[in-house]
Amino acid sequence: MNVSVSGYLETGNIMIIPLFQGIEKAPNNSTKGLTRAASIAVKSAISSDNFDGEEKSQISIWTKECQIILLGVGQNDKLSHKKSRDLGATCFNNLPENQGKNVVIRFTKEWNYENMASFVEGMILRNYSFDKYQKIDDKVEKNIEWSINCQTTERYRKDLRSELDRLSAIATGVHLARDLGNEPANRLYPEEFGRRAIEWAQGKKNVEVEVWDYPRLIKEGMNALVEVGKGSIHKPCMVFFRLNPDLDVNKQVPCIVGKGITFDSGGISIKGSAGMDEMKLDMHGSATVFGLFQALYATGYEGRVNGITCMAENMPSGEAYRPGDVIDTYSGKTIEVLNTDAEGRNVLADGLWKASELNPSYIIDLATLTGSIVVALGHEATGLFSNDNSLSDKIKKAGEDVDEICWPMPLLPAFEKQMTSSKIADVRNQGKGRWGGAIQAAGFLKQFVQEREDISGEKSQIPWAHLDIAGTAGIWGSDANATVSHGATGILVRTLHRLITKD
Ligand code: BES
Ligand code: MN
Ligand code: ZN
Repeated sequence: MNVSVSGYLETGNIMIIPLFQGIEKAPNNSTKGLTRAASIAVKSAISSDNFDGEEKSQISIWTKECQIILLGVGQNDKLSHKKSRDLGATCFNNLPENQGKNVVIRFTKEWNYENMASFVEGMILRNYSFDKYQKIDDKVEKNIEWSINCQTTERYRKDLRSELDRLSAIATGVHLARDLGNEPANRLYPEEFGRRAIEWAQGKKNVEVEVWDYPRLIKEGMNALVEVGKGSIHKPCMVFFRLNPDLDVNKQVPCIVGKGITFDSGGISIKGSAGMDEMKLDMHGSATVFGLFQALYATGYEGRVNGITCMAENMPSGEAYRPGDVIDTYSGKTIEVLNTDAEGRNVLADGLWKASELNPSYIIDLATLTGSIVVALGHEATGLFSNDNSLSDKIKKAGEDVDEICWPMPLLPAFEKQMTSSKIADVRNQGKGRWGGAIQAAGFLKQFVQEREDISGEKSQIPWAHLDIAGTAGIWGSDANATVSHGATGILVRTLHRLITKD
């Protein structure tokens, strides 16, 4: 998608004029450059009783030069960034495909540049499809790029242009995360994820990617990751992302950890077949990490950031780990495996311990971790667990800023205790019942965040937050998210970008 900003010059193939409720007279600039006939048609439509700018109302006017869409935006004081973004996304989704792809948006009366930017951001985010495996090409227009020309008055142009540059750059990260999430598990397995990360880093001066392959994982004692992944012919790996690795070397910087189960069959504790295909998305935590690094890189972020993704395929086989096994972990603690389907927490155990070794300012992990969080929050919000209120508040705020809800959940000691009450190992990977399953999982993860001494010599855990994205990583046949049609959402790339770049 090619996005530009200008005055009211071109008329395009499709002209969108988004109008607030109560505007009864065509704003001055709305009809610039149109023929007399077209101009009269627009003016009469706007002043007619059939269109009053009510939210989601829409009128099309066909003229010789272009199709004009009058789009109702609703009341000005009710327009939020979210509403504007969703309007842009929905409007883009409804555009005719056979009318030409030069779109002009005329922002006139009462629009400010932030709301314009959100509107166009919605279009950019929605301009995504995962059709690389559809080999039969029946749409000629598919290969022609959309061109979006945003027209506004002189005083907004500079700010709008720079904001759109930034938002487009971030969107490349969101789209990359969706691409990775949507890849089927026979195409994207742990080693392939690692290969793509290395390929991505090539030719970029300020990024570094390192992959620890299966033999290296064994050598380093990353045994939890090894155990989860060893049942598959596609062996596990750990991928390290480093942005600006040579900067701020004495400063503590964030480390973002992602669960990367490229397919979760459940392993020996195998899942039922209904919806099992969706478990190709069980690596969305790692996809978000990868997408975040792309977004940070593309926006030219100048700080140092670390990322770690724990990649494995959870499969049943003669070589798979079993229920009842006691496995070693990188931390030295042992895990009693009561359910091989609780594999995400196992691989994160090694990832979190490794992240702790980097002495980070804080650790955030992202994981499609539990069905339980979907029961609690549906597809509306990500579950946010943290041992640090100030970190938790910051994440919540960053989420609010970009309209990805991160909802605080409690780390209740009773559930944590369930996880540390194995009769034969240090921790167990399943709690004592169904209730509070997402909190149980968080309580498990907490065992693998290291403590460190502060300046006064007191020990406390590294600030850490766990984001359970099981409900927000994918859209399957629901319309919970205007900026995504189907499949992976690219969730939290925008939130974490906001969090990191705002600090
Ligand atoms: N990947 C699943 C969680 C999940 C469920 C993600 C639905 C997306 C949508 C995870 O590995 C899992 O299987 N969790 C189990 C844990 C249980 C066995 C303790 C669950 O939530 O049922
Ligand atoms: Mn599982
Ligand atoms: Zn899983």
